[in-house]
Amino acid sequence: MANSSAPLGIFDSGVGGLTVFRRIAERMPAESIVYLGDTARVPYGTKSADTVARYAQSCAEVLMNRGVKMLVVACNTASAYALDVLRRELPIPVLGVIEPGAKRAVAATRAKHIGVIGTAGTINSGKYQDSIREYAPDARVSTKPCPLFVPLAEEGWTQGAVPEQVAREYLSELCAQGIDTLVLGCTHYPLLKDVIAQAVGPNVVLVDSAEATSESVADVLNHQCEANKGSGQGARTFLVTDAPETFKRVGKHFLKDEITDVEWVDI
Ligand code: DGL
Repeated sequence: MANSSAPLGIFDSGVGGLTVFRRIAERMPAESIVYLGDTARVPYGTKSADTVARYAQSCAEVLMNRGVKMLVVACNTASAYALDVLRRELPIPVLGVIEPGAKRAVAATRAKHIGVIGTAGTINSGKYQDSIREYAPDARVSTKPCPLFVPLAEEGWTQGAVPEQVAREYLSELCAQGIDTLVLGCTHYPLLKDVIAQAVGPNVVLVDSAEATSESVADVLNHQCEANKGSGQGARTFLVTDAPETFKRVGKHFLKDEITDVEWVDI
């Protein structure tokens, strides 16, 4: 068993994974967390499977060197392309965001017709589709890459005419196909939850993969490696591969909290 006071490691291609960080920190405040945003190489969502897997391996190495007891791959694209190799290579539990999101979507759907939105990489990998069908072999899955949601979220354009129009354009086809559940399969999409909800209407349940993942992390911590039993708040460490100041400025909207210290790391 790992040392219970060792930190959790979380990585993402940049700021987006802070939506996953926030959910984990809310659910398990006593855990210390080391977060790595690979801001020098973001975005992952447009890159090839091999490149994303290689980037993910180097991120994992940085976090392993910090002595983490568990690794959370907060990036959906990296979860799609690198989870298998990381699980094979690392001696600690490794959790991605796809399986928890898929599982929750299956629990939520009544019509057995689930929509999934994400980066082009995530959608093209077919991993959400496979994972959903593992839990519900008879489910129908309709997908749509929504790449413009990423820059909109980072620019803070999360309300108003522009994101509303983009959301309608992206989502009208999925709605016409009759989905009753929609997985937000990208770190950035929780920031656009309101406009997405408006575009799909009240009869479609939104599944936040970040939220679902925090539940799975708690589960793994309690069963596979030791949860921190302390009562105070764990330490939070933020690492980036480029532009710490931008990470602080943009990241606070994803974390819903100020980020004071960010350390640059070379990988
Ligand atoms: N973090 C990525 C994801 O969840 C979105 C941003 C990117 O393309 O790197 O897939």
